[in-house]
Parts: sequence; structure tokens; C-alpha cells
Amino acid sequence: MRKIFVTGGAGFIGSAFVRLVLAGQPEIHIVDYDALTYAGNLENLSGIDESRHDFIKGDICDRESVLNAVPSDCDAIFNFAAESHVDRSILSADEFLRTNIIGTQVLLDAARAKNVRRFVQVSTDEVMGSLPDGSDEFFTEDSPLQPNSPYAASKASAEFVVRAARETHGLDTVITRCGNNYGPRQFPEKLIPLMIANAMNDEPLPVYGDGKNVRDWIYVDDHCRAIWLAFEKGKAGEVYNVGARNERENIDVVRSLLDALAKPHSLIKYVEDRLGHDRRYAIDPSKAENELGWKPQVTWENGLASTISWYRENQAWVEHIRSGDYRDYYDKMYAARLNASGSTQA
Ligand SMILES: NC(=O)c1ccc[n+]([C@@H]2O[C@H](COP(=O)([O-])OP(=O)(O)OC[C@H]3O[C@@H](n4cnc5c(N)ncnc54)[C@H](O)[C@@H]3O)[C@@H](O)[C@H]2O)c1
Repeated sequence: MRKIFVTGGAGFIGSAFVRLVLAGQPEIHIVDYDALTYAGNLENLSGIDESRHDFIKGDICDRESVLNAVPSDCDAIFNFAAESHVDRSILSADEFLRTNIIGTQVLLDAARAKNVRRFVQVSTDEVMGSLPDGSDEFFTEDSPLQPNSPYAASKASAEFVVRAARETHGLDTVITRCGNNYGPRQFPEKLIPLMIANAMNDEPLPVYGDGKNVRDWIYVDDHCRAIWLAFEKGKAGEVYNVGARNERENIDVVRSLLDALAKPHSLIKYVEDRLGHDRRYAIDPSKAENELGWKPQVTWENGLASTISWYRENQAWVEHIRSGDYRDYYDKMYAARLNASGSTQA
């Protein structure tokens, strides 16, 4: 068995990655390390092959805990763990700087100490700021880093500490920068799950500003496939932009969701814009396509349909989050199985 260390594997994208790797890579054993913040949810890992997955509850900023958790024969660290919601970073940036920057540095140090073969940093297109409205420009790997929100600034800083570990210590690193993900198990504060949940409950759908902000949407599994390929085929020290060439105005996304759910457009409610709201993100993924042999496999239409079906069929998952019950899940399901080292399987 080859071992990999995944941080943030109880979150939206991390859990999709864990599922994908366990299903597609039978020789891989995953050590999944997650602090289970408000965004971490062990229900996201229900039904996986537990024999190849160890779950450890821990904070990536906790140096001793990370050093103990990274296995000695580790092929790669995949760093998904982050504070990830822009709106929360506008209210308070402290936790973003701590987890996203300090936490990344702690993981890089652990990668060196444990001779980990490769470090994969999961970054975001938001580090590159905003493209002008109506332009035909795209983000490339050479675009300057111009973050506009505290979240984006913390992720850009994380990229810098990864780069420094590469340049200073020769650590084998790869960075992926992806656009907006959607799919099952996304925390219902993000645009698509929020709108689906509100529409299903006939509640107003709050749309920021004029709704014409453009995002480049990608189905979560396509993102995860790109991260895996970056690990397997990426060149050390390189950055790979990941996007599905799927630009959409927010208002069009919301209208499509309402149509798919057979709900009236009158549920749309325009609200005061987000501070510093980036206007347009659009990614040129040519490098990932050419060097990694990656291509998105899920169309927008199919991805949206399966996402809506998932939320329809898993209303209990949403309800557990809305009521806060998911927070008790760890204690209910796993506390009794904790062993002396603080590790359990999920
Ligand atoms: N969601 C997107 O559209 C998107 C796009 C591009 C890149 N990304 C990046 O992908 C990664 C995952 O995003 P997501 O949407 O799944 O986020 P998420 O908020 O759903 O999950 C984050 C996970 O990290 C864990 N975590 C947070 N702080 C931690 C800490 N200090 N120690 C250990 N674990 C901690 C949480 O418990 C949670 O399970 C992030 O790095 C994010 O920046 C996200």
C-alpha cells in the first residue's frame, strides 16, 4: 500500500477527493487529517472503504500533532484544509491567516522532516484577483497574484510559502489553482447549495449586487481528478490552473437552478453587494490539459442535474447542518472508537 496524507478530507472538496482516490486507486491508503471546523463533516465520508482510510482529528497549525500524524513512508501531502468562505474572511480574517498560511508552513515543515515525496497545495483562482468586466482575458499560470479578499490574500500567501519551500529547501511541490467548484456535500453557505436549499424551502434567493459577477464553474470530481494528475504527472515547482471553460453570471446560475427545481424567478432577491466583490474569474486550463492530460468529464448540465438530485435526496444532510446536529456526529459515531493515539477510522 502507498500512503498519502490528506488534510481537510472531511470538507466538500477533500471528501470528494478521498472518495475518488479510494474508488480509483486500490493501492492507496489515506491518512485523513481534519480539525472538523464548522465546515468539516464526517457525514461527508459515509460509505467509504474504511480499511484504506484512517481519520485523525487535528489542526494543521499544531506542529506536534501534524508530525505525529504524517506517516513515515508518505508519498504525498495534499493540502485541502483551509478556511474557505470569502464572506467569513470579510467579517474576520484572523482564522484565515492562521490556518491558510501558518498551517501550510507547518505542513511543509512536516513534509521535509518526514521525507514526503511530493507536496500538493490546493489553491484557488481567487489569488489572481478579478478580470475586467466584458474582457476576453483569461487567468494563466503567469497572471500576477492580486488577491482582493482576505481569503484570497491568505491563499496567495500560502502559495508563497509553498514556493519558498521549493526554492529554499528543494521540496518537491505542485500547486493547483481552480475556479468555483460545485457538487454534492458543499456546505450550504456557498452559492449553489444555498440557492438549492432556499428554493426547495420556497425561501428568497439572495443575489449579491446586480448578479452579473462571472464565475468559472467546475464539477468537484473534475477538480479532484486534476489534483490527482498534478500529483502523478505534474512537474516539481509548477502551478497548474484548473477550469472547465464554463463561465456563468451568478444570476444565470440562480435562474437555471430555479428552472430545474420548477420554482418561480420571483424568489430572487437582489441584496447589497459583497465588499470588494471580484467581477470576473475565467481560467485558461491549457497547461493542465497539455502537460497533465486532464480534461473535464462532467458537463454543466449533467453536473447541475446530479447536484440538484443529490441535495433533493439528502435533505437530512442539509438539515443536520442547519440544526447544528452534524457537529455531534463525530462524538456519536466515533468517540467510542478513538484509540489511545487520538486516531480513528471513518
Ligand atoms: N470551494 C471552491 O470552490 C474552491 C475552489 C478552489 C480552491 N478551493 C480550495 O480547496 C480547498 C477545500 O475547499 P472546500 O470548499 O472543500 O472547503 P471546506 O470549507 O468545505 O472544507 C475545509 C476543510 O478543512 C478543514 N479545516 C479547516 N481548518 C483546519 C485546520 N486548521 N486544520 C485542519 N483542518 C482544517 C475543515 O474542517 C474542512 O473539513 C481549500 O483549500 C480551498 O481554498 C476551493
